[in-house]
Amino acid sequence: MNISIDFIHESKTKADLLVFGLFEGEANPPKTLQVAEPVAFQMIKTAIQKKRLSGKEGEQYSTYHDQFKRTSQILALGLGKKDSWSREKFRKRVAEILNYAKNQNCKFVQILTETFTDRSLTSQEVAGLIPETLDRAAYRFDKYLTQKKDAPKKEVDRIELLFSKKEQKKTLETALEQARIVADAVNFTRNLINEPANVMPPRELARYAREVARAGKIKCQVLGPGEIKKLNMGGVIAVSQGSHEPAQFIILEYGNAYKNKGTICLVGKGVTFDTGGISIKPSRDMEKMKYDMSGAASVLGIFKALSRLKLPLHVVGLAPCVENMPGGGAQRPGDIIKMYNGKSVEVINTDAEGRLILADALAYTEKFKPKAIIDMATLTGACAVTFADKCIGLMGTDHALVEKVIKAGEATGERCWELPLWDEYFDIIKGHHSDMMNAGSGYGGTITAAMFLKEFVPIKPWVHLDIAGTAWVDSDKPYNSRGATGVGVRLVLELLKNWK
Ligand code: BES
Ligand code: MN
Ligand code: ZN
Repeated sequence: MNISIDFIHESKTKADLLVFGLFEGEANPPKTLQVAEPVAFQMIKTAIQKKRLSGKEGEQYSTYHDQFKRTSQILALGLGKKDSWSREKFRKRVAEILNYAKNQNCKFVQILTETFTDRSLTSQEVAGLIPETLDRAAYRFDKYLTQKKDAPKKEVDRIELLFSKKEQKKTLETALEQARIVADAVNFTRNLINEPANVMPPRELARYAREVARAGKIKCQVLGPGEIKKLNMGGVIAVSQGSHEPAQFIILEYGNAYKNKGTICLVGKGVTFDTGGISIKPSRDMEKMKYDMSGAASVLGIFKALSRLKLPLHVVGLAPCVENMPGGGAQRPGDIIKMYNGKSVEVINTDAEGRLILADALAYTEKFKPKAIIDMATLTGACAVTFADKCIGLMGTDHALVEKVIKAGEATGERCWELPLWDEYFDIIKGHHSDMMNAGSGYGGTITAAMFLKEFVPIKPWVHLDIAGTAWVDSDKPYNSRGATGVGVRLVLELLKNWK
């Protein structure tokens, strides 16, 4: 899909479809339509007067006329009331444009971008949001289908974003370019997650990490089972020992030149398949547990974008990758293991494996003396029960960092909600013959998992994101086909872009 920026007065090519937005209650069509397609302006004006078109949210109104000079067809999208306009509503409208164009077999689409702007949504933002959302909406994981669902003739080839102010050209083009880098990272992450576990074991994730590093100015080191043992990462060893797939501990490092500004550590859970181990999961839905490496995949996606966006930051990414299997060498419930930071853990439930590998990775961040740590993990079913696929469970130890992440969540639509980390919650996982247990009663499951992790975090500014509910959707959404969402990539990139 070719997406470009052009100016209403200059673009002369004829499109198959011209799209604009209409707020509810507007008596007149947007002025830019008058400039772009005067005949259409009159037709829309009449339609509004005759109450055939009101601008209600989700409304679609299309028409054509042989006197149109710029396009064969126009489409008006109802945006709802102006005072409740939001970025998220805009994303939904953008996804509608793509669907509509596909169904109508429109290859070349023009968008009157300024008709979607208001005080809270600038031209520059729109120039980013449209391509970002289009690229996410167009994504399909269909490489294994021998007959594709979307016939190739229905693909949209070209999208032109029309603006009126030529002096903005440079900033708009930068916004477009950056948005496509971000969307590409999201889709890359989705690919890693959607790949089945037989294709994407830890070694394959590590291979992708090396590839990401090679393409950008990124350092990559992968620790294998030997080095992991030497480092006494008891959690990683214990979880991986039930599988034939060797554990891989991925370390990525971007922006060495910016070390003086402090280091940010990103940690992602990389369980390429979670059977539960000896505490085996029920077979229902178990096939979905290939997405238990979503945190790690998001870290890889973020690094893919980092160097292309040239962000002036020093960022270290850690992804402990294992397969949680119940093989003959598997750990048992009741095993007591010693973690990288020396603490002892009684493994009550081998299905609470994520926290075991993350604990070692979080403790390992100490090596980089970070000033902030953010981890992403499909950590608890309880989080999905609480928030469904609508919200990330957020827990943290530093108010300022928590606020920053929440703000980035609002901006990207990857919204987060904070849960408490009160000391009393530790009572639930306090050990009897060990410092702690890897599972408690089950009550407060999302929080107790985070309380466990907290024991291994070496510094204060830390935020934990439980993405168990949000990393995967079971049905098609406006800009997300069924499967992996790549959640966390846009959230963290937004956070890093605004980092001070
Ligand atoms: N990967 C799962 C959490 C999960 C469940 C993610 C469903 C997405 C959807 C995690 O490893 C797990 O099994 N957690 C257990 C913890 C329990 C045994 C304390 C859970 O949530 O049931
Ligand atoms: Mn598990
Ligand atoms: Zn898991």
